[in-house]
Amino acid sequence: MQSEVRVSSQEPIDHISENIYGHFAEHLGRCIYGGLWVGDDDRVETEDGIRMDTVSLLRGLNMPVLRWPGGCFADDYHWEDGVGPREDRPRRRNLWWTQGRENVPEESNEFGTDEFLRLCQLLDTDPYIAVNVGSSTPQEALDWIEYCNSGGDTELADRRRENGQEEPYGVKYWGIGNENWGCGGRFAPDEYADEYRRFANYFNGFDKLMNEDSTEFIACGHLTDDWNKVFFDSLNGGMEFGPGSFLGMGSPFNLMDHFSVHRYYQAGGDTDFTDEQYYKIFARAQKVGGDIDRAAETISEYVPEGEIGIIVDEWGVWHPEARSDNGLEQENTVRDALTTAGVLDLIHARADVVSMANIAQLVNVLQCLVQTDEEDAWRTPTYHVFDLYENHVGQTALETSVDTEQREIDGEDHDVPMVSASASEGDGELFVTASNRRHDEAELLTVDVGSSAYSVSSATVLFEGNDIREYSTKENAESFEASNLAVTDEGDGTITFEAPPASVVGLTLTE
Ligand code: AHR
Repeated sequence: MQSEVRVSSQEPIDHISENIYGHFAEHLGRCIYGGLWVGDDDRVETEDGIRMDTVSLLRGLNMPVLRWPGGCFADDYHWEDGVGPREDRPRRRNLWWTQGRENVPEESNEFGTDEFLRLCQLLDTDPYIAVNVGSSTPQEALDWIEYCNSGGDTELADRRRENGQEEPYGVKYWGIGNENWGCGGRFAPDEYADEYRRFANYFNGFDKLMNEDSTEFIACGHLTDDWNKVFFDSLNGGMEFGPGSFLGMGSPFNLMDHFSVHRYYQAGGDTDFTDEQYYKIFARAQKVGGDIDRAAETISEYVPEGEIGIIVDEWGVWHPEARSDNGLEQENTVRDALTTAGVLDLIHARADVVSMANIAQLVNVLQCLVQTDEEDAWRTPTYHVFDLYENHVGQTALETSVDTEQREIDGEDHDVPMVSASASEGDGELFVTASNRRHDEAELLTVDVGSSAYSVSSATVLFEGNDIREYSTKENAESFEASNLAVTDEGDGTITFEAPPASVVGLTLTE
């Protein structure tokens, strides 16, 4: 079969924020405990209790940002439980999730704020902390930001120093709760608006007066427009301070830098799915695009364009096999990785409104990038998609259209294009990613970048020869690595090649 990808460098969309390639790690199953943190366990090399085999694989992704400690866990977490000498930290229940290798719903608090921020230092990634709104107070949240970011002579800043960190950590991203319509407190949208205004007001005060305006605040939205509209309406109802007034607070919307949505999808099982379900999951993953569009439309009714970015701070495949009692573990297949390519393509197409995205989750849990056992760590197929797509980071997304067969899917709003693609340009380089979703046939692809000034400098392909049901294990992990792809550069801005069945291709063109 044949398809054509047309890239228009005359139609730049926007800069692709590096934060679109962000991640999420929750105190859930073996994500933190076992996957990232092993403490004194000497079966693997560690630095300050953090697993260095996992870190070294993750360093390959140049992670821009990491969200923590949840998820649902965030709204039941009290940060002071997790600072100071580890032997004195209280053991608590983990209300929502099984935990670590012991597989019990308990939290040892061995991994807390300083351990998380140490991990971020090791990964050279920006921390994004979600505070507890559902079961806590603005005071606790304010104390947390002070502990992390204050350079002053205060009890909390001194505590941080005693705990080993002299300089403020400078945590930039602060989420005001998580899914506060659900596990984060079951607030009605107007109630969450009140809570948001209250929490963000104190954060904003700290930010303006103590922190030189260097933090950003994130509201957690819903997938339904109705919920989001009531939330924005109610927030709007808050008192407005004039621009010249104390702190220059202005409208309540000044209290929000980003608004987040979450989307998970599944069709059939992780490895057990029919042909129809194989395609159905792409239709479901495409809903992320609609979620972003609807959130952008709602926001545009209240604030000028660009003032509040959209964050998709949980997204990915959540198969029925990933249950609470197994720490949300599932097999990570080539099919999953292909859905990731499609979602990243549609996020690039919305680079003008999306300020961050965080796939769920980083290690061992849900659609993870790295898996571990007690001795080793290895990459999943999804890791390789992130690795390949990383070339888009910091470039300008370009309008990209794909002329390809659309497959209708019973019961779904979206048809599934057999080829998904996106492109970006920067510093004399153009990068195109394209995936062939047909699992049983190669696709003859023509990519037209519209300018003979560009010629191909490299072409790589993922998953050539892998089956769509193949999932990563310690033994086979290397079989998902990228290989070179033969392409024909016609010399007039068009490149043709055969994209193998169920594969993802990355083309770099230089001027
Ligand atoms: O990622 C797993 C869970 O999914 C998170 O804790 C929650 O925010 C979402 O419902």
